[in-house]
Amino acid sequence: MSRSAHPAGPRHADVLTEGHYSAPAADLNVLDEKVWSRTVTRDADGALTVGGITVARLAEEFGTPAYFLDESDFRARCRAWSEAFGPDADVFYAGKAFLSRAVVRWLKEEGLNLDVCSGGELTTALDAGMPAERIAFHGNNKTVAEIERAVEAGIGRIVLDSFQEIVRVAHIAQRHGVRQRVQIRVTVGVEAHTHEFIATAHEDQKFGIALADGQAAEAVRRALSLDGLDLIGVHSHIGSQIFDMAGFEVSARRVVQLLAEIRDEHGVELPEIDLGGGLGIAYTSEDDPREPHEIAKALSDIVTRECESAKLRTPRISVEPGRAIVGPTAFTLYEVGTIKPLEGLRTYVSVDGGMSDNIRTALYDAEYSVALVSRASDAEPMLVRVVGKHCESGDIVVKDAFLPADLAPGDLIAVPATGAYCRSMASNYNHALRPPVVAVRDGEARVIVRRETEEDLLRLDVG
Ligand code: LLP
Repeated sequence: MSRSAHPAGPRHADVLTEGHYSAPAADLNVLDEKVWSRTVTRDADGALTVGGITVARLAEEFGTPAYFLDESDFRARCRAWSEAFGPDADVFYAGKAFLSRAVVRWLKEEGLNLDVCSGGELTTALDAGMPAERIAFHGNNKTVAEIERAVEAGIGRIVLDSFQEIVRVAHIAQRHGVRQRVQIRVTVGVEAHTHEFIATAHEDQKFGIALADGQAAEAVRRALSLDGLDLIGVHSHIGSQIFDMAGFEVSARRVVQLLAEIRDEHGVELPEIDLGGGLGIAYTSEDDPREPHEIAKALSDIVTRECESAKLRTPRISVEPGRAIVGPTAFTLYEVGTIKPLEGLRTYVSVDGGMSDNIRTALYDAEYSVALVSRASDAEPMLVRVVGKHCESGDIVVKDAFLPADLAPGDLIAVPATGAYCRSMASNYNHALRPPVVAVRDGEARVIVRRETEEDLLRLDVG
């Protein structure tokens, strides 16, 4: 996922060969709009505000580290996706990126559907009042108990991921006297340009049923033959943090081709296709994500064209963006602790969180940016590595970035674009207390997921 590789100034000549970082912005006080949520600005004193509230006030009220989520930005992104795809398509927000009951309510109000992939996500969705028919259930190893719960709730669709699951879901549905709406997840053989662990449509991995060797066609045969299943379509998800639409185009073409083969063999035109999620966002100034309307147009054009040439009725399209909706809407606020300059290398800036609130840098070599947000500064840029407080040298939050050289303990710094896969992948490593998520909107801030406490830790430790 490394997209930036530009040299910095001569002060840092010894580390230039590593080349992970961009040149410092001309003025570190200027925020790059691309990586911050929409209501973020700097006030007259240079302090960052979100939803009209300064970070100093937020830090005082909610503490650090904490995730601050810009609710109006979240809602605007939901609307942008659903307007871009229009009434003839469905947008399912991928809950794995970040899910809470408040988020479920916002999704419901903004007319989105929801993709869940565990019993826990399903419970959260149902508890917050998402209608079951607007939920899709994913996963390569759903338990019988999870499938039972989903079927009992009247879930909108289950995305079948294996031959065993086809039979399992059919039996459970039959036992409940229903025909469960299902899709089959196929692996289309597209190698998306992203980190190996988050690319999912090549064949040598655990998700889906391969298209290439006829397995997907066989899965369709079996699903169509079982009374408990109502096969509504085919699903493909090719990976994450993808900028190039070419992978989606190949995937859409192959999925439509499968629909044509199904029509030829069974005389059935499946009414839906799901093209998954995976659209990239800007983590640094180097990233140039596409707008939802461009993505919607590219996908619907290719599906329409392929269907015309195969003489198929155009199926209803669904997509499952997670990161592209929630990722840009939040930042993590940290307080600066120890600052350690390493002569000729860089300065290590320790914060009060780390890999327990953002594992993505350690796990995927992900790139982030960072800014001093409690005040303005005219000091020279200094090359820094922002690290956490955990007992591991890989505990890095931002690998290479520039902060003003007068940075001091007690300053607040913020890492933008941490809305997706940070709180949802947070851990208690070193018995860290997972940070709260605070929603900010129109001058008001409220906790939507509270900070863990030491009592929470002790409560789980039953002695
Ligand atoms: N649909 C399916 C079937 C998926 O498996 C995923 C993500 C999505 C949709 C949503 O993808 P998104 O639009 O959010 O990229 N932990 C990794 C990402 C793993 C994504 C897994 N599946 C990360 O932090 O980058």
